[in-house]
Amino acid sequence: MSTELQTELQAAVERRRNFAIISHPDAGKTTLTEKLLLYGGAIHEAGAVKARRSQRKATSDWMEMEQQRGISITSTVLQFEYQGCQINLLDTPGHQDFSEDTYRTLAAADNAVMLIDAAKGLEPQTRKLFEVCRLRRLPIFTFVNKLDRPGREPLELLDEIEQELGLQTYAVNWPIGMGDRFKGVFDRCHQQIHLFERSAHGSREAKDTVINLGDPRIEALLEQDLYYQLKEELELIEGIGPELDLEQVHQGQMTPVFFGSAMTNFGVQLFLDSFLDYALKPYARNSSEGTIPLEYPEFTGFVFKLQANMDSKHRDRVAFVRVCTGKFEKDMTVNHARTGKIVRLSRPQKLFAQDRESIDVAYPGDVIGLNNPGVFAIGDTIYNGKKLEYEGIPCFSPELFAYLRNPNPSKFKQFHKGVTELREEGAVQIMYSVDEAKRDPILAAVGQLQFEVVQFRMQNEYGVETRLEALPYSVARWVTGGWDALDKVGRLFNTVIVKDNWGRPVLLFKNEWNLNQVMEDHPELKLSAIAPVV
Ligand code: G4P
Repeated sequence: MSTELQTELQAAVERRRNFAIISHPDAGKTTLTEKLLLYGGAIHEAGAVKARRSQRKATSDWMEMEQQRGISITSTVLQFEYQGCQINLLDTPGHQDFSEDTYRTLAAADNAVMLIDAAKGLEPQTRKLFEVCRLRRLPIFTFVNKLDRPGREPLELLDEIEQELGLQTYAVNWPIGMGDRFKGVFDRCHQQIHLFERSAHGSREAKDTVINLGDPRIEALLEQDLYYQLKEELELIEGIGPELDLEQVHQGQMTPVFFGSAMTNFGVQLFLDSFLDYALKPYARNSSEGTIPLEYPEFTGFVFKLQANMDSKHRDRVAFVRVCTGKFEKDMTVNHARTGKIVRLSRPQKLFAQDRESIDVAYPGDVIGLNNPGVFAIGDTIYNGKKLEYEGIPCFSPELFAYLRNPNPSKFKQFHKGVTELREEGAVQIMYSVDEAKRDPILAAVGQLQFEVVQFRMQNEYGVETRLEALPYSVARWVTGGWDALDKVGRLFNTVIVKDNWGRPVLLFKNEWNLNQVMEDHPELKLSAIAPVV
């Protein structure tokens, strides 16, 4: 590699931070995203993301559903500069029915920000997504939101994270008061108090008044009880809490915790500043050829998401590729590991919310959108240099199952095409009965809305009206060891055997209780909630 390219790549990696936000709906992800963009100068007035969202609703096609329901299904990648760093925020769908999409997006992220509503603490969707982050050993940064409203005690929230998620916590800042009496936060690193000023919905950057802890003005600015409470709590966390250990943070064992209020912008800048310091830069990833170091000079990357018809003006599919090593250049040709074909990467796009902007170069940690003429599937590796494949992206256990019927035999071809394409795109998982006579695909989804999207798109894009026939299962487990392992255990009760799209055995159970029973009866049977990677 030329030394110029080496220097260019090093500088690019040094500058890059890439993350996704995980949260339960309503915790404030859209609001926080918007405020991060505001600080990054990517938008000038908060409200723009929501406005774009409604614009998108007006222009998109099958996304009519979004409009009808006022939810966000699609996810995009937001890129912005902040203090010399390039930040890639992998946005994820807000609706929990689309959590599978979020799981895949986390495969392309280097860090995760866990956003928690201070009044609610950990919620089901946060826990689920946290498990995916743990599996991937992602560093987790916690932002406790909505401090301007009455919430739970900060110490109690930290305790919940430690007890339930088994994560050590380190409070980077500490809140002073809460709700109506929210006065600001104490920045432990710089030993300074940031005073909170209520702004009208925080459409502009918050004015930040900073004073040192020893400043005599504090007594006049803070009510006495809050001042003493702060001192007491600080003594407590300093006395019993651990030191900030970045190595543990990077291994996903400790989470730096920030308190703030996204709506009023408070604490957002403090968070961003520390995040840039503490977050992992793009790092080496595992592949069939071992760990591929960042210094690897050739371009490599993998597809983590496909999206169809994002814009009716384009009527196309976009493959989102995470760049792992090397430099991406427009119009370059690469090898496609799964098919062995050579693909030309023309019309690359950078995506900011719904706007598409053509890009010429990209570096490790970046995400590019490629027009996908049917070549890419989720998990595909593209590379130059020696052949390699990055670890695939696992499918997670679906919770809803239904036969998808095609009542009109003359539409067989379109039906088949639609099902195949929607599966490839990851809109839904597909399974089949082991009974050859039952040929109809079984849709397997995380949320009901996924079924509706499939039916809607089958009708709108493939012209096939479909019928759905629900199946009474709620848990799926892949059999580790395949059919051989299954044959050895003999007859199983309380479960039905199906095969996934790759012909591998999957057990479906009515509920967790039935699953546990089978596991008790057959300790030799090894089951996994995550599909083996293809
Ligand atoms: P989501 O993407 O995670 O689903 O959440 P979103 O940002 O849409 O926020 C959910 C609700 O919580 C919104 O209220 C939002 O204004 C509010 N919110 C977000 N951050 C804060 C905060 O720091 N403090 C307070 N008090 N509220 C916050 P909404 O009534 O649903 O919408 P809107 O009318 O405010 O737009």
